[in-house]
Amino acid sequence: MSLLVAVTDTVFPSLDGSRAVLSKIGAELQLSKAPTPEAILDVARDADAVLTTYAKLPADVVNALTKCKIISRFGIGVDNVDLDAATAKGIVVTKVPDYCIDEVSDHAMALLLAIVRKIPFSNARVQAGRWEMPTVVPIHRLRGRTLGLVGFGRIPQLVVPKAKAFGLKVVTFDPYVPKDVLAKAGVEHLDFKELVKVSDYISLHCPLTPETKHLFNAEVFSLMKPGSYLVNTGRGPLIDEAALAQALDKGQLAGAALDVVEKEPPTGSPILGRDNVILSPHTGFYSEESLLELETKAAEEVVRVLSGNAPLNPVNPVPAALKSAAK
Ligand SMILES: NC(=O)c1ccc[n+]([C@@H]2O[C@H](COP(=O)([O-])OP(=O)(O)OC[C@H]3O[C@@H](n4cnc5c(N)ncnc54)[C@H](O)[C@@H]3O)[C@@H](O)[C@H]2O)c1
Repeated sequence: MSLLVAVTDTVFPSLDGSRAVLSKIGAELQLSKAPTPEAILDVARDADAVLTTYAKLPADVVNALTKCKIISRFGIGVDNVDLDAATAKGIVVTKVPDYCIDEVSDHAMALLLAIVRKIPFSNARVQAGRWEMPTVVPIHRLRGRTLGLVGFGRIPQLVVPKAKAFGLKVVTFDPYVPKDVLAKAGVEHLDFKELVKVSDYISLHCPLTPETKHLFNAEVFSLMKPGSYLVNTGRGPLIDEAALAQALDKGQLAGAALDVVEKEPPTGSPILGRDNVILSPHTGFYSEESLLELETKAAEEVVRVLSGNAPLNPVNPVPAALKSAAK
């Protein structure tokens, strides 16, 4: 019987990139009709591997998989998968850590420049026939201001030279980053509250974990510099959105630029409909080039594991049988 790879959900125009890789081991790809537990299990229950984008794979879904050897995430964050349940079942979970780091670091800078220079706000007015400056004031000079990066993994490390090119001073908070990485990047490490207090702009780049959920809440917003800006290309739930809306109402923050939101799409969110909030639909990762790389690399992890080899980028313990094959 041929190998079966279930896809829980996808936002890609096609899955041809993955299909081409999987055809090398004769694996068939089947897409779930919906990102719900029932629909996912319809295709994934007896599948040999699972490819997943945003659909939630909680413990009860993971526990119902009968043959699955690998859950390969189309992406970097693995917060949609219950890792403990996967580990307990001997399923290795993988990510693709490097396919979009240029795109997301560009996107973070694009959001920062757009919100600080008030480009979407100005554009809306000009398009409506209002060629005027008074509504756009105030705008402050970027050069000499401080950008705080929360998390200092691959993406924010690429933000650093781009931000420095605009004359920004860059500081970071990341409790786990090695000192030599900071030294190489020429970035000062501050404790979390210090970063929040001194930054004119804060850009979020840490993963979503129990420790980072609502890291930006009412208390933290009250510590931010009045008139500062918040950019988020990490994960929506890093921010308590109701508290963000209040901080914007009070004028504590001048604006926010978000590629990710607490609930996607953000129907009914209090951050909608504001002149000083700009949103993109979780497209920070996307370019035609990154998408092909993502589809290819995620499927290659499946091919490795289903061929008895260790994956390149596991995020939980690799089962012993695969580990010894790698030696
Ligand atoms: N918007 C998008 O399209 C998009 C695309 C890719 C990734 N992302 C998100 O961006 C995040 C960052 O990506 P990356 O490639 O830089 O990740 P990475 O895995 O290279 O680095 C993550 C960093 O976060 C740090 N970290 C962990 N817990 C932290 C905490 N409590 N406070 C501060 N830092 C903490 C880690 O030490 C690590 O250095 C991902 O986790 C993902 O959720 C979004």
